[in-house]
Amino acid sequence: MRKELERVGQQALDEITRAKNVLELEEVRIRFLGRNGKITLLLRSLGTLSPEDRPALGKLSNQLKNKIQKALAERKQTLGSEAQTEVISLDITLPGRRVWFGRLHPLTQVTQEIVEIFAALGFQVARGPDVESEYYNFEALNFPKDHPARDMQDTYYLADDIVLRTHTSPVQIRVMEKQRPPVRVVMPGRVYRNEEINARSFTVFYQVEGLYVDQHVTFGDLKGVLTAFVERFFGPGTPLRFRPSFFPFTEPSAEVDIGCFLCGGKGCRVCKKTGWLEILGAGMVDPAVFAHVDYDPEDVSGYAFGMGVDRIAMLRHGIDDIRLFYENDLRFLRQF
Ligand code: DAH
Repeated sequence: MRKELERVGQQALDEITRAKNVLELEEVRIRFLGRNGKITLLLRSLGTLSPEDRPALGKLSNQLKNKIQKALAERKQTLGSEAQTEVISLDITLPGRRVWFGRLHPLTQVTQEIVEIFAALGFQVARGPDVESEYYNFEALNFPKDHPARDMQDTYYLADDIVLRTHTSPVQIRVMEKQRPPVRVVMPGRVYRNEEINARSFTVFYQVEGLYVDQHVTFGDLKGVLTAFVERFFGPGTPLRFRPSFFPFTEPSAEVDIGCFLCGGKGCRVCKKTGWLEILGAGMVDPAVFAHVDYDPEDVSGYAFGMGVDRIAMLRHGIDDIRLFYENDLRFLRQF
């Protein structure tokens, strides 16, 4: 028994010295002094000894136990302070971990920029619902019943006469219903079309609509305001051209191109060698539209325009696939 005590005691002391860290040390403690530890079991077996042997061996066991506890405590302190020097030796010149800030979506940024330019020109901001009645989306805007844009191919119907708006033009009607001239508003928002999805078109996109109605508003005013906008958004001296076009709610109507700011008009891949980029539709408000909102076309006139935010954002940032805006890949979004 004495031999066994001394052997196990020595083993414990050796293992304590060898423990490389606080965790290993704790394992050693449990192995020897834990509930079923080797020393604990030996101490427990003292009761089976004869009364003569018991005092001497009892004393020896207690001494051993104290010695082991002391060795454990000392080793623990040494290991603890070593761990501390380890912390101090960390390389604090290593670059920190980057914390990412949230930011506005590129389409939101471009929308805000467009709206701010018009706000500075005296335009107010209005919004309308994404879910519209056929009346606002088509009828009040002078789309004949059999107009191809009403076709199920392009328009998402939610019910018989309820659609997801295919453009922001219906907001013009909602504004004019509530307000008498003069009216000067821009109307940003999301629009929906049942189109084939590819690099150039998506089923959802954004527009900014504009409307100015007052006495004596002319096509010259429209050209003036759009020129001011284009110069501020794309840079001073950006050329502008109006091509005759057709929209049911404007007469006359035009499509507006800007000189390609990538090639300076020489012709490149983006402008398809034409030197021009189409950015919006516009025109003088058709008298038939005024009739729906009780404005007197003899008394007032107005212009309207509508531009695609996605297209403008793609041109501005050199993005060649519209789908990138809707995939929410952080590697893309973090660049703006
Ligand atoms: N709503 C037209 C579209 O989505 C764009 C447009 C053209 C708006 C001419 C206008 C306008 O206000 O006058 O294609």
